[in-house]
Order: sequence, then structure tokens, then C-alpha cells
Amino acid sequence: VIKPLTNHRSYLYQQLADRIAALIEHGTLRPGDRVPSVRRLSTQHNVSVSSVLQAYIVLENRGLIEARPQSGYYVRPRFLAGLPEPTVTEPPLAAIKGEVGELVARLLRCSDDPGVVQLGSASPDPATLPTGKLNRILAGIARRAAPGLLDYNYPAGCADLRREIARRSLDWGCALDADEIITTAGCMDALRLCLRAVTKPGDTVAVESPTFFALLQLIDSLGLKTLQLSTFPRHGACLDALDYATRRHKVAAVVLTPNFQNPLGACMPDEKKQALVEMLARKSIPLIEDDVFGDLHHGPARPKVAKAFDKKELVLLCSSFSKTLAPGYRVGWAVPGRYRAQVELLKRVDYISGATILELAIAEFLKTGGVAHCLRQQRRAYARQMQQMIDAISEHFPTGTKVTRPTGGFLLWVELPGATNALDIHRAAAAHKINFAPGPLYSPKQAYRNCLRLSCTNPWSAKLEHALATLGQLAEKQR
Ligand SMILES: Cc1ncc(COP(=O)(O)O)c(C=O)c1O
Repeated sequence: VIKPLTNHRSYLYQQLADRIAALIEHGTLRPGDRVPSVRRLSTQHNVSVSSVLQAYIVLENRGLIEARPQSGYYVRPRFLAGLPEPTVTEPPLAAIKGEVGELVARLLRCSDDPGVVQLGSASPDPATLPTGKLNRILAGIARRAAPGLLDYNYPAGCADLRREIARRSLDWGCALDADEIITTAGCMDALRLCLRAVTKPGDTVAVESPTFFALLQLIDSLGLKTLQLSTFPRHGACLDALDYATRRHKVAAVVLTPNFQNPLGACMPDEKKQALVEMLARKSIPLIEDDVFGDLHHGPARPKVAKAFDKKELVLLCSSFSKTLAPGYRVGWAVPGRYRAQVELLKRVDYISGATILELAIAEFLKTGGVAHCLRQQRRAYARQMQQMIDAISEHFPTGTKVTRPTGGFLLWVELPGATNALDIHRAAAAHKINFAPGPLYSPKQAYRNCLRLSCTNPWSAKLEHALATLGQLAEKQR
């Protein structure tokens, strides 16, 4: 029940927005609830449809509600104020060789049982992928047997796909030309080609701490050393730490995920990205930027990429369609700036070109529409599921547990109180058919022993809640 409005006509929409905000604030309208339809509210309060719509836009901009196509407006998930967040990380400032390879191999072996509640993988929920549409596009391309379909494509990659990616770059704050883009076999391949273009074995590479284990393994496999940076769970790598690190060490490259970092979910504010790019430009250090989660923002605006502030062509942007459209297609891209020729040469030497038909299929999907709808659904699902997971963690995990509050992506980082050992909990959880990613995977010397990374890609269910309650009990027992 929304209190009647006064007849202060010039502020009707504002009053309406404030009333609904109060209902959300007091919990009368809860996350996931539908707010009254525009028409109903307009009749109820005898105000115009446009006033109600304006009120809903105000509430959307405040991040309180969200529109769902053909369904109406709903209260957005919000995080419980009670559960504390982890604080900034403080890894030792030393260039070191990684030691996570064996641990990764062991943990991956126990994560492929389909009966397991899977909280450990950073793969998207298959139900949110556009499987049917991509299948139809792929079949259509094969049927039409376009000229050159079975041939190698250009070393830089399929021209249609590069054009579509260039068009999308406007959303990220760039205005890229298709010629600046090189397609790759996923984001990992883009990172690998870019790292090889700017480093030689023995060099040191600075990364966030914690950071995703595939990057640590990649750095290690190229004979490079890792330098870990203090990182804020909300706003990403600490720029003072980076400045200090680059004065103490000869850093050949910096690899960061400014948007929804894995595993912290941190999102660097755009001004901080600009300061980062400017600082590295002064020091002539290339920045390899991983933006694989950038499209999965939960709020209304897509964050920019650091590349948007790159005046010296020193940022090598890497991404893929693996978190949003088709991880198995292995289609990604790099925008290597001044290192374009080296990256293209390395790609040509390694594998000549990408798989033509898969690049054409993604290009056609992007061109014919549907991607915006697909992303909207994913963002909504991940935001809702993340809230449900945080609620369950606050209910079932030991007192003193801390959890991140990402504003995008689908990963949560949980810090357990006391001297808990996530590897022991992982072993015990396997007996209950639950898998998660233990903290030690995310640093070269297997630190973060009291941390877990949980994936929020599973739709909410009683089974999932039970799995989280079990994890909470195992953590409590460990303590
Ligand atoms: C930050 C980050 N970058 C890159 C990747 C890998 O992307 P792709 O599958 O496109 O190689 C992942 C996968 O989890 C990731 O988390």
C-alpha cells in the first residue's frame, strides 16, 4: 500500500519514487518482488502514466528496481548490510615462480562429476547461453556453404567478426577500428599472445592478488616471474602498491582484470582506470587488460575498459565470448595497440587462423540481434543468484565470515574466520558431493588458505541451499 500523494504536482514522480523506495527500505517490498504495474499505480493515484514511468526511471537509476522485458518492474537484489567485506590484500612484494600447477591438476580431476553441486567452476550457466539460436545460425552457414568457409581465414581473423566487435567497442568507451582487432582462441589465448609479445623468459609480470589460477599458470609456463599487488576487493589493484612495485622491480608488463576481477569481483572505477593507464604510460610499461567479465555488470551502466584511456597504444585489451555466449567455441580477441604486428605474427606462427565457421557464427549472432536480450537475462540471473548466495552464507557460515559484494560477474570470494584450511574443507566437501574453488589456487605460493571462491551460476534451489549449509558446517567444524 503506497500512501496517497500530496498535490505538489511538480514533484509527483519524485514523491512516488520516494514512497516506493521507503517500501523497499523497510522490507515491505523485497528483492525479487514485482512493484505495482505502471498502469495500476497511475489509476490508483490519479497521476499520468508518464509520471509513474519517470518515478520508475528514478528508482532504476538508484539501483533499487529493474525492468524485465514483457514482465514489469522488480525490486533488485541488495546485499545485507550485516556481513563484513574482506579488506585489502597484502601479499609479499617479491618476484616469484608459481607453484599452483599440481594443485590445479588435482582439483580439476575431482570437479567433473555431474552429480556434484558445482560451485567451483567459472563457466556460465548453460541455460543462459543462446544455444538454439547459435545452432540455427551455424546450420544456416554450413547449408549456404559461403565461399571460403573451409579455407583459412585472414591472420587477423574473420573480417565480419572484427567489424562486429569494433561496433560493440562503443559500449566500452572505445571507438575501435576493425583493423585494430585480432581474433584469438578465447581470452586465455589472447592473454598468452599478448604476454609473449611484450615479455621474454625471466621477466617479471605484476598481477592482482588474489588472481585466477590460469593466469598464474600461464605466467609460469612462459618462464616469467609473478609480482603480486595489494588489491581492494571493491576497487581492484592498489595503484600506490603498483607505483612502489615498479620502482623496486623491473616490471615488464602488468596484467589486470579491472572489470569484475576473478576471484574478487572487484571493479575499478573509471577515474582509477584512467590514473592507472596514465601512470603506466609515464613508466612505458604495457598493461594487458582482461575484460572477459565486462559485459556482466549488474547495475545499469557497463563499466569502461582501461583501453578507453589509452593514448599511447600501450594497453593490450583481451576478451572473449566465453562468459556470455559460447565457452566451447573458443572465440576471443585482442586489441594489442602498438604490439599489433607482433601479436599477429605469433598467432600466425602458432595456428595460422581461428576456426572460420565459429567466428562467422558469432559474427552473425552479434549482427542479427539478440545479444542485448541474452546479456540482460544473464545479468539479472547472476545478480539475483549472487544475492541469494550471500543471504545463505550470512545465515549458515560461521560468525566472522567475510564476503565480497561484486557489482558484476558471478563470482564470490569468502574469507573464513580463524585458521581454517580451505583445502581440508574442500576434501571434506567432496564427500558430500560439493565442489568449490579453494583460496590457495589464487596465489603463486598457495596463500589465502582461509578463503573460498564460490560461483553463483546455479539457479537457486533447496539442494543449493543445503550445499551451502553443509559448507558452513564444515567451516565451523574446522574452526
Ligand atoms: C579473468 C579470466 N580471464 C580469462 C578466462 C578464460 O577465458 P577463455 O575461456 O575465453 O579463454 C577466465 C576463465 O575463467 C577468467 O576468469
